Amino acid sequence: MRWGVLSLTALLCACVDKSDPPREIAGADAGNGLAVIHSVGCASCHVIPGVRWPEGLAGPSLAGFADSPMIGGQFPNRPDVLVDWLVDAPSMAPATAMPAMPLTESEARDVAAYLYTLHD
Ligand code: HEC
Repeated sequence: MRWGVLSLTALLCACVDKSDPPREIAGADAGNGLAVIHSVGCASCHVIPGVRWPEGLAGPSLAGFADSPMIGGQFPNRPDVLVDWLVDAPSMAPATAMPAMPLTESEARDVAAYLYTLHD
């Protein structure tokens, strides 16, 4: 009986472990990512913690995005997938209202690194 309780506890802890999967982006600069977010105007469509103005409502709030399992409700929230999404979301989801953004691969990696600092 005691072992049963212990293993149930272990199972519950595994489910709420938000550190998995790892979302490190090697060599990316989250600080520069925030600067890029300002310069290309992501906040015209998104509420983004760290950006005071504007607070666009066309897209979902990105508060807590680091803890979200999905991108656009249909893709796994992984660094490589997120970078592709930021550069050209319509190539992944033709019906999406998120436009392709004028980002280099390196800028998109920096933006992704910033988004992965946005925990609930
Ligand atoms: C013209 C408005 C617009 C702009 C500009 C825009 N987005 Fe989006 N974005 C959207 C919309 C709308 C969605 C929802 C798309 C969907 O679910 O298919 C979205 C979805 C997302 C998602 C997925 C959110 C989630 O919870 O699934 C991320 C991340 C994101 N955008 C980041 C960015 C970043 C970073 C920029 C700037 C580089 C940006 N967006 C620029 C409209 C925009």
